[in-house]
Amino acid sequence: MNAAARRLSSLLLAFIFSTSLFAQSATSPRENPDWWKNAVIYEIYPRSFQDSNGDGIGDLNGITSRLDYLQALGIDAIWLTPIYPSPQVDFGYDISDYTAIDPQYGTMADFDRLVTEARKRNIGIIMDLVLNHTSDQHPWFLESHSSRNNPKRDWYMWHDPKMVDGKPEPPNNWLSVFGHSAWQWDAKTGQYYYHRFYIQQPDLNWSNPAVRKAMYDVERFWIQHGVAGFRLDAITSLFEDPTFTDENYVLGPDGKPLINVYGDKQVDTLKTDNLPEVHDVLRELRQVADQTHGRKVILIGETYLRSIDDLRKMYGPHNDELDLPMDMQVGFINRFDVNTFRERINQAETEINGDEPLFVFDNHDNFRWDRYDHDAHHEDAGRVIAAVLSASRDTAMMYYGDEIGMVTTPPTRKDDVKDPIGITGWPKEKGRDGERTPMQWSDGPDAGFSPSGVKTWLPIPPSYEQNNVAAEEHEPDSMLRWYEQLIALRKQDPALHAGAETMLNTIDENVLSWLREADNGEVVVVACNFTDQPQTVSFDLSAQGVRGTGVKTLLKTPGGTDPASLRSVQLGPFGVYIGRVE
Ligand code: NOJ
Repeated sequence: MNAAARRLSSLLLAFIFSTSLFAQSATSPRENPDWWKNAVIYEIYPRSFQDSNGDGIGDLNGITSRLDYLQALGIDAIWLTPIYPSPQVDFGYDISDYTAIDPQYGTMADFDRLVTEARKRNIGIIMDLVLNHTSDQHPWFLESHSSRNNPKRDWYMWHDPKMVDGKPEPPNNWLSVFGHSAWQWDAKTGQYYYHRFYIQQPDLNWSNPAVRKAMYDVERFWIQHGVAGFRLDAITSLFEDPTFTDENYVLGPDGKPLINVYGDKQVDTLKTDNLPEVHDVLRELRQVADQTHGRKVILIGETYLRSIDDLRKMYGPHNDELDLPMDMQVGFINRFDVNTFRERINQAETEINGDEPLFVFDNHDNFRWDRYDHDAHHEDAGRVIAAVLSASRDTAMMYYGDEIGMVTTPPTRKDDVKDPIGITGWPKEKGRDGERTPMQWSDGPDAGFSPSGVKTWLPIPPSYEQNNVAAEEHEPDSMLRWYEQLIALRKQDPALHAGAETMLNTIDENVLSWLREADNGEVVVVACNFTDQPQTVSFDLSAQGVRGTGVKTLLKTPGGTDPASLRSVQLGPFGVYIGRVE
């Protein structure tokens, strides 16, 4: 069978398969068009979740085998980071085929089984769609690279050099996010190509309608395989300023350009990030998602933005763009500062037209929650973050291992680094291996991640002996129990599930407090102590039109007390209290 015929047959199979799935799940709650609002989305880094075949790398069948655990945790959807065929320079974010599965993760049949089994448990599968760039090994780029006259030349961002003293130099000073010039010289064809990320990740030319069409076909392909949505990688960087002029340098307090961890003079990103044309593409992606069939397919954006105004625009003027742009302004404050948390959460509540915020504190690109850790109160900061995530009016996105308190474990020797930026940037930038270590299922060999005795692709962190699923399932005060209780409460309690949110005690410098109010009038208060000292807070809710002064505890951190009234709620160091007003 030739390649075209193979593609066609797999599309047909996908169609037949998805038709039978829809018939089977017609009454499933997943058909609720609002299923993603107030949902909990769990990010899985497939290399690191569960290895089923003993090669030291996680895989799809491993994930399927853990669905019961995820269902018990209470999640609604799984976001899988890329599982497509890839040279794995950027561990899957360099894709060489958008409509297949990398053999190290399994087969298309394994993927379809994962979707089916997840759906039986009311869990949707969200694919990572990398639209900004492909691998340099993708057939499109191989063609584009082959000659200036190739029909696919214009699928990528090729540019003539700037000639300096007769020698070719990059057209401008734009930098790659991963260090050094964003332009790579190709001596054979005498032009540079642009890559916002690694050299092996050339940027696609989104002004070319053929590129758009090809990617919308990819979107359709996965919808036909039954996915519940897409997480759109680097979505704000699809377009570049067509003048290709230099960016300004970012200056330090001394008026000189800042130097980044790779030793480059830092430049701005005004000409390479969040250009207005991105919104046209979002609308087109939305149309494809809405057209394909009656089921609601959500679009999540990786949206590191400068302001709440930019975030609001990502939903579209008629709610016709992203369903859930990630609110990184709340998630990556990176210091335990009550005022900043309050201000940013309040912005999400009051300045995005009532749309659904997507909060996220942890992912595969950033240090884990322990960046907030406090020496004397290990894990307590993690409980506070979990409470902010779960008890806010939001869709909550968590990262595998958060629920057992997994900590960032960076490599200690340059020779051990797997993520290329950790090699370029060592020792200032150790790369992202530290937040991608294998899931800790037990205190047995390989932490239960791989069958016994296998060398895992990243080492198992020493913390696995205390922080693992098997142990924490039996400890009443474990982080796992805390997450389970928070998620269960969020599902059961109408105020916590979908109630409006108002910040309380807004001049308190130590405790972040807010109120949730359901349509049925039920009111819940949440208080989180951001300090290592005990605090007492008092709530007067008359300004909110709430008469009750009594309170019934719904959930509190271990060692917390049950207050007699809202006038005096005591919180231990980093303590959390959630109570229903009576
Ligand atoms: C964002 C992804 O989260 C990150 O892991 C990746 O390296 C870049 N985009 C490039 O695709």
